[in-house]
Amino acid sequence: MKIGVLTGGGDCPGLNAVIRAVVKKASKGGDGVIGIKNGWKGLLEGQVEPLTDFSVSGILPRGGTILGTSRTNPFKAVENVEKCEHHFKRYGLEALIAIGGEDTLGVARQFCDRGLPMVGIPKTIDNDLAGTDQTFGFDTAVNVATEAIDRLHSTAESHHRVMVVEVMGRHAGWIATVAAIAGGADYLLVPEKPFDIDGVCASLLSRKARGKDFSIVVVAEGAKPAKGGPVTLDAPKDDFGHERLGGIADFVAKEIEKRAGLETRVTILGHVQRGGTPTAFDRLIATRYGLRAVDLVRQKKWGRMVALQGFRIVDVPLPSLDQQKRDLDMELYRDAEIFFG
Ligand code: F6P
Repeated sequence: MKIGVLTGGGDCPGLNAVIRAVVKKASKGGDGVIGIKNGWKGLLEGQVEPLTDFSVSGILPRGGTILGTSRTNPFKAVENVEKCEHHFKRYGLEALIAIGGEDTLGVARQFCDRGLPMVGIPKTIDNDLAGTDQTFGFDTAVNVATEAIDRLHSTAESHHRVMVVEVMGRHAGWIATVAAIAGGADYLLVPEKPFDIDGVCASLLSRKARGKDFSIVVVAEGAKPAKGGPVTLDAPKDDFGHERLGGIADFVAKEIEKRAGLETRVTILGHVQRGGTPTAFDRLIATRYGLRAVDLVRQKKWGRMVALQGFRIVDVPLPSLDQQKRDLDMELYRDAEIFFG
């Protein structure tokens, strides 16, 4: 068979591990793999490269994606959908493995509904994709954020300051919450629970009254005050209508200084969380996802996505673009809350 593979949406650690697993497994069974460059943009514009054992050699620990990525949505224009279908036939593809989050996989779902043979692999550092217990990339991002919180502790303690750390998580507080628990943060703000800034200040002051004269506050970029929306940057929306977030930590820090009179500093981790080598766990699930995706192709299970359930790899339907996202499990938030104040 001739199998296409593409990576779409925000990059994340583990993409190369998936590509490697797909190519190695496909070639062992005599199947060929064509890499489609830059997500759906590559299918639209006809940018491809054959992938061989040789081209994926040594990429397992490398961050990013050797194929490149984009946030292109071909379904914004009918002629673009047709161009993609034309290229699919022109390259003789018999299946396509799409590696991505809700947007990339939502496009795969739409192509599948039009008769193209699609299989999906769930990726996003945000871990907010329904249908799987975990996306790859998340574990690495959590480790980066936890290490940052560890490092901020010593400087916060030395200067008796509040440190506000902003982590990624556009709609979901998974990275923020897991890193807050693992790093021992003193307060946590997530998109799923709009916050009251006076409550944040009261908690930090009560901690100070207990003799702890420094605090770490972890904020997901999508966190929002109870009265108001998330903080967005002055930038155009992407093809899927997403606004660019960033800066909520500055708002929170200013309010803490003003209302509680505590000296505060801000660290925004941003894309550092998406770069670099994947953790062993992300390499493992990324590899297992890639191997199972080739099985799905060979079984012609179109419209399916590989997923983690417990420690087993299973397959579930590809998500649609309007499917509910996977919000943070609030039990985890309540666990983090025990350490506030
Ligand atoms: O969806 C993953 C993610 O990392 C979000 O957490 C973040 O809001 C967004 O991507 C940033 O996207 P970009 O790389 O386009 O700035």
